Amino acid sequence: MKKKIKLFDPVVGLKEENAIKKTLHSHFWASGEGTGKVLEFENKFKKYIGSGSCVAVNNGTSALHLALSLVGIKNKDVIIPSLSFVSTAHAILYNGGIPIFVDIEPNTLCLDPDQVNKKITRNTKAIVPVHFGGMPAEINSIQKICKENDCKLVEDAAHAVGSTYKNRKIGNHGMAVCFSFHPVKNLPMPTGGLVALNGPQRKENENLLQIKRWCGISNRKGVNYDVTNLGWNMYMNEFSATIGLVQLSKLDKLNKKRKKIAKIYSKEFCVENKMPYNSDCSYHLYWIRDKNRSKFIKKLKSIGIETGIHYKPIHQMSFYKSRSKLLTTEKIGTEIVSIPVHPNLSDDDIEFIVKSINKFC
Ligand SMILES: Cc1ncc(COP(=O)(O)O)c(C=O)c1O
Repeated sequence: MKKKIKLFDPVVGLKEENAIKKTLHSHFWASGEGTGKVLEFENKFKKYIGSGSCVAVNNGTSALHLALSLVGIKNKDVIIPSLSFVSTAHAILYNGGIPIFVDIEPNTLCLDPDQVNKKITRNTKAIVPVHFGGMPAEINSIQKICKENDCKLVEDAAHAVGSTYKNRKIGNHGMAVCFSFHPVKNLPMPTGGLVALNGPQRKENENLLQIKRWCGISNRKGVNYDVTNLGWNMYMNEFSATIGLVQLSKLDKLNKKRKKIAKIYSKEFCVENKMPYNSDCSYHLYWIRDKNRSKFIKKLKSIGIETGIHYKPIHQMSFYKSRSKLLTTEKIGTEIVSIPVHPNLSDDDIEFIVKSINKFC
């Protein structure tokens, strides 16, 4: 039977199995207060990225939702790229804000700071760059724009756990940095996310998000508690944190393997438009562009190589249908294809993928 090469595939072993069994038999599976394994995960992740505060939640969408709730964006503009998962835009609407789609830079597929400068207005309250595929966005330039225009930097780092920017881990730059630990991500959990907080208000923001992630409950003493805010049911569960702790301990090793594969691809693929190699990138995705995308995807599928489209631009979705004209995003949106780059790929898989891409492209 023909082997199938999956697009995403978490690396799991005995350590995860044993840890999950322990959590199962502990009978302590979840707590809105964020104690137990969740607290342990937050503390270890904090150390890993070098950020002062981390609040674990149930997914990356919630992380973005909560992070933007700190800014106060009702009827205000928030700048985002359109080439992203739809949650980047939805999180703005959840908070009553207005997504302003801005074009990307064709090499990194991250927000283009020059285009941001053209679209920013007095009504802009936040900029949310996406570190696309794990490639760090131009944080310094965007941070400068934020300072000049009195708006906040909230990063969508769903793809970028373990990525670096100017020798610092992604996670300790923006006011809030949002991670996803969805099973396909570099640090997979059954479901999970996290907001890392930086800057002078980080402690205050950490307290507020701890309250908001558990229905607004606070001041809990024994069986007594108060509700001080509108909150949601967004806390992380113990099983996710248990797997997350094991995955975190091997994250750098697994990201190293992703980088090794990406280096081979960027050297060997004889494709005109492909993701560049950059040692700062965690390579959640590896993309190439093909003008006959549907045919190309079908051919790869026929020989067992699964691919994906990340993404169709959000501003072209029926729900968002915006009049924005984003030339680079729209062109790339019709051509982009994701190729398997996960650490479970064997040397034979990698060789087969390179040969096949070069034959079909
Ligand atoms: C760029 C980006 N932002 C946000 C999210 C949302 O994360 P989650 O699926 O954990 O809610 C994702 C997930 O795919 C993503 O890729």
